Amino acid sequence: MAQTTGPRWALEKIKDRGTLIIGTSAGFPPFEMMKDGGGVEGVDIDIAQKIADALNVRLVVDNYDDFSMLISALQQGKVDMIVAGMTITDARNESVTFSMPYYKADQALVVLKTNDAIQSTEDLAGKKVAVNTGTTGQYYVEDELPGVDLNTYGTASDTFQALIGNKVDAVIIDEPVANNYITDDGPYQIVQVIETNEFYGIAMPKTNADDLIQEVNRILGEMIENGDLEDIISKWSKAA
Ligand code: ARG
Repeated sequence: MAQTTGPRWALEKIKDRGTLIIGTSAGFPPFEMMKDGGGVEGVDIDIAQKIADALNVRLVVDNYDDFSMLISALQQGKVDMIVAGMTITDARNESVTFSMPYYKADQALVVLKTNDAIQSTEDLAGKKVAVNTGTTGQYYVEDELPGVDLNTYGTASDTFQALIGNKVDAVIIDEPVANNYITDDGPYQIVQVIETNEFYGIAMPKTNADDLIQEVNRILGEMIENGDLEDIISKWSKAA
């Protein structure tokens, strides 16, 4: 007799496999950065580890050199979820389901300290601006700053490489990440915070993942409630 096997549910699949495979894109400190000697660490990795622990499975971190590949990796089932400082947007909501928000961020305009010509986004016409490919920073420039020469880079850290290498005039990137690159004696400065009011969420598949989404929201909610999330964020924040 033909047996109808229903869809395989995401959480069930993870538990059977014994591993939680997350997709991320390092070079985005303090959320995900490469460790000396390999591997990825940061806020998102600690959050993912908590989730793996709660599910009683091993965490596997799949690092993508190009942030913009993450959603298709999720859709193809290569990863179980994306934990990559990914902003919850209406457009992305068409292809993934987000968890509850776990962090709020804006964008920042960064230039070299030696640059006094660019003081705000008004000064960017005709200028080369670096963004991380497929991010809300890119969409902001495309939507709000026509006339800018847009230069896209697979990772956030590459945008800063381009800036220090004088390949671009400015970087537009998530403010907490920009902040991470700023030091008293370093070369970069934030000249404007662009209030985009973004919220990061964990992206999960749109179909057959209700069990996983529920569980991730439960775990995240608990981490918010008991202070674990705050502890993780302050652990990775630059000492003021
Ligand atoms: N929050 C921005 C977005 O969702 C940037 C995220 C970039 N993340 C990364 N791991 N490179 O588009």
